[in-house]
Amino acid sequence: MFQVNNLSMIYDVNTDSKTYALKGIDLSLPDKGLIGIIGPSGSGKSTLMYCLSTLKEPTEGSIVYNDIEITGVTGSERERLRRREFGFIFQKHYLVPYMSALDNVMVASVDGRSDTVAKASGLLTELGLSEKEFSKKPAKLSGGQCQRIAIARAMINDPKVLFADEPTASLDHANAFNVMSMLKKYSEERLVIVITHDRSILKDADRVIEIWDGEISK
Ligand SMILES: Nc1ncnc2c1ncn2[C@@H]1O[C@H](COP(=O)(O)OP(=O)(O)O)[C@@H](O)[C@H]1O
Ligand SMILES: [Mg+2]
Repeated sequence: MFQVNNLSMIYDVNTDSKTYALKGIDLSLPDKGLIGIIGPSGSGKSTLMYCLSTLKEPTEGSIVYNDIEITGVTGSERERLRRREFGFIFQKHYLVPYMSALDNVMVASVDGRSDTVAKASGLLTELGLSEKEFSKKPAKLSGGQCQRIAIARAMINDPKVLFADEPTASLDHANAFNVMSMLKKYSEERLVIVITHDRSILKDADRVIEIWDGEISK
């Protein structure tokens, strides 16, 4: 699904404080499965994910996604790709504070179908929220519940690829384990890429990619 060749990212390229965040990465990723990207802080994990998901433009190299060279596509086409095919989960949930749990999921839906309410409710139920929690605002819910709402939001458009950057970093062990088992299940039909610096959450990953100082070591 992804074919990455000689991918490099240099921040502040025209200054004395250049940072080589990615150094000639070659990588191939399948259509389905749970892929872990692990490495210490500052090793280039987020930069790699942002390049794959079109949020950042690499300095050099190529990323082919389903026969599309995504480093070459225009802004509006990149946006379409992101909205239609990719889902995102971050360390912080970034829920809208004045919207209910259900509205936070529905607001991300791109095709405004009449069954969006049913779909959003179904996702929240599957992710373990009870119906009385659907109408609550984030401040009235726990960190684990908020992260599950953010996961439902990332799934509402049936993305082909789910990108998760440190999705469990603000959760306790039980919630982190829960989130990972949901992502594992989701990866049976889709590609799920999870970035972490915590190896224990990747025990069920189909593949773990180690990144160190901008290079893949395994
Ligand atoms: N926007 C930016 N501008 C300049 N340097 C950056 C920027 N983002 C990340 N970096 C640097 O690039 C390197 C890789 O960062 P990052 O991809 O965020 O690593 P990780 O996610 O593994 O912690 C680090 O040295 C970081 O300081
Ligand atoms: Mg990061």
